[in-house]
Amino acid sequence: MEFNYLTLDDFDLRDKRVLVRLDVNAPLDPATGKILDGSRIVAAKPTLDSLRGSRVVVLAHQGRPGKDDFTSLEQHAAALQKSCSQHVTFIDDVMGPAARDAIKRTQPGEILVLDNVRFCSEEILEDKGEKLAKTNLISRLAPLFDLYVNDAFATAHRAQASLVGFPCVLPSAAGRLTEKELAALKKVLERPERPSTFVLGGAKIEDKVPVIENILSTGKADHVLVGGNVGKVFLKATGHMFNDSEEQVLKSAVEQIQKAKSILANHQGRVVMPTDFGTLENGKRVEASIAELARAGRCLDIGPQTTQKFSEVIRASKTVVAGGPMGVFEQEGFESGTRAILESMADSGAFTVIGGGHLAGYADLLGIAKRFSHVSTAGGAMLSLLAGEELPAIEALVSAAKRQRK
Ligand code: 3PG
Ligand code: MG
Repeated sequence: MEFNYLTLDDFDLRDKRVLVRLDVNAPLDPATGKILDGSRIVAAKPTLDSLRGSRVVVLAHQGRPGKDDFTSLEQHAAALQKSCSQHVTFIDDVMGPAARDAIKRTQPGEILVLDNVRFCSEEILEDKGEKLAKTNLISRLAPLFDLYVNDAFATAHRAQASLVGFPCVLPSAAGRLTEKELAALKKVLERPERPSTFVLGGAKIEDKVPVIENILSTGKADHVLVGGNVGKVFLKATGHMFNDSEEQVLKSAVEQIQKAKSILANHQGRVVMPTDFGTLENGKRVEASIAELARAGRCLDIGPQTTQKFSEVIRASKTVVAGGPMGVFEQEGFESGTRAILESMADSGAFTVIGGGHLAGYADLLGIAKRFSHVSTAGGAMLSLLAGEELPAIEALVSAAKRQRK
């Protein structure tokens, strides 16, 4: 995992016109549309600080077309103003004449935030950088800049124009957050101190099962603790029965259950599965052992026995990576498993990494976020890297560096 990209230290930034792709995508309050967690906005500060003497234009997205959180970036720009020292302005245009005029007028020491780049239909396509470099987005904006900086680590798994197109036509660098994220993840993937434990849970099983396959077959993990829906898939693979409604949901996971079976056969004793769950019955939490699940309510958390077992494995580890919660921790009464995992990690003295908006936000709420070695701003991008996949946005920076070094 060698990333030979250029960084901000490789360029003279003074007075330069710099296009910075950030990931400020935030969870929004469904009722008011207000940003609920602005931590990705704050995480952009080191890069923006390094660009204090430059003419900075920020390009970013919020949500996706068709989703309720697909909105303008006006409030993100206001939040950015609170966390950085430059004067920040916002324009409700991405590549039209108004945006291009505002870009040309941006002075050294100023930041201009363009509107949601996903308002442009070209940004939704995923393709090779060379092809996307021919889009209107790139051909209209690129000539206005001296340098492209990618600090949108949490979107690095997308091969979209704003991520892979610009590096084909502009000198390009990784931002400070991208550098920091990759350094932490490289440490857990390349030289993990042993024992190394990965904790994987959450709802999206199709994202997690390939990670488990990769970290076990490449020997990066000694143990994998599975909770949430991921835990259910592994238990199903060993023949356990759940209640009717959960069985119904698991029917759509046949492929993942099959993969879980082969993981269990190939890596015996290394996947640690739940032995009990906190279930929802008549509005209350009721503990149930895995033998009782067919007649129990929905499994919304790992149970006390599992929590204790998982915590012991974590405390005995030297490297711990967690992606995804142990259940529906947002629901009152079902937070104890996820909370205990995070607290055991914080107490472990191990090199600890947590990722995914939900876990990072919860660690913050518990007031323990600072006790982790690294809190990733990424969910999907971190998991793609852990699954052994290439990140198109990072590969694009590496190719740009090769061209520039020639
Ligand atoms: C995220 O929050 O996952 C990133 O901002 C990428 O967004 P996407 O999953 O909609 O591409
Ligand atoms: Mg995503």
